[in-house]
Amino acid sequence: MKKMQVCLLLLLPLLLPQIKAQVPHWGPCPEPATQSAFNFKLFMGRWFEIAKLPAQFEKGRCIETNFTLQFDGTARVVSSEILKGELRTIEGTAVVEDQKNPAKLGISFSYVLPYTPYWILSTDYANFALVYSCTDVLRLFHVDFAWILARGRTLPAATINHGKEVFAKNNIDISRMISSRQQGCDKHL
Ligand SMILES: *[C@@H]1O[C@H](CO)[C@@H](O)[C@H](O)[C@H]1NC(C)=O
Repeated sequence: MKKMQVCLLLLLPLLLPQIKAQVPHWGPCPEPATQSAFNFKLFMGRWFEIAKLPAQFEKGRCIETNFTLQFDGTARVVSSEILKGELRTIEGTAVVEDQKNPAKLGISFSYVLPYTPYWILSTDYANFALVYSCTDVLRLFHVDFAWILARGRTLPAATINHGKEVFAKNNIDISRMISSRQQGCDKHL
């Protein structure tokens, strides 16, 4: 019990900005279906953010994440964005937390932080991926994040719409989902 309280205290400063950025939903996290027979290796490589939930107040553009398989079976994660004309990167680690549910990844961007859920709801590995992250807060409400990722900087509208339908079908409220800016990115670098 004591350990859990310490954990929550560590988590709260992290959760607060997230809570502020969106309307929290009452009740526990939804339990969406995830990609069956998920293949972690095929998921490696470069993914571009096409759309996200929620809208962030100060948002970067050209957001992408590069996953690289490590010898220990985890993946090195490098996310980058251009914010106020500067390229910013953060590094983390992605793991398959439970081999029975390989699509339920965890990602951590610091040694001291626990893994946050990074669930692959659906992907064809070559074009698109639908990612969902949800955290229960004190069992009273939950805050969630959702991303539509692609192997290129654009996706056909039909693929985006299909992705939104998949989220909605799993009781994930994507009414506040916004498109990510992926214009003028390669020029900058
Ligand atoms: C992704 O990371 C790997 C390993 O660090 C690197 O070799 C590769 O060039 C990176 N790709 C991009 C597009 O940054």
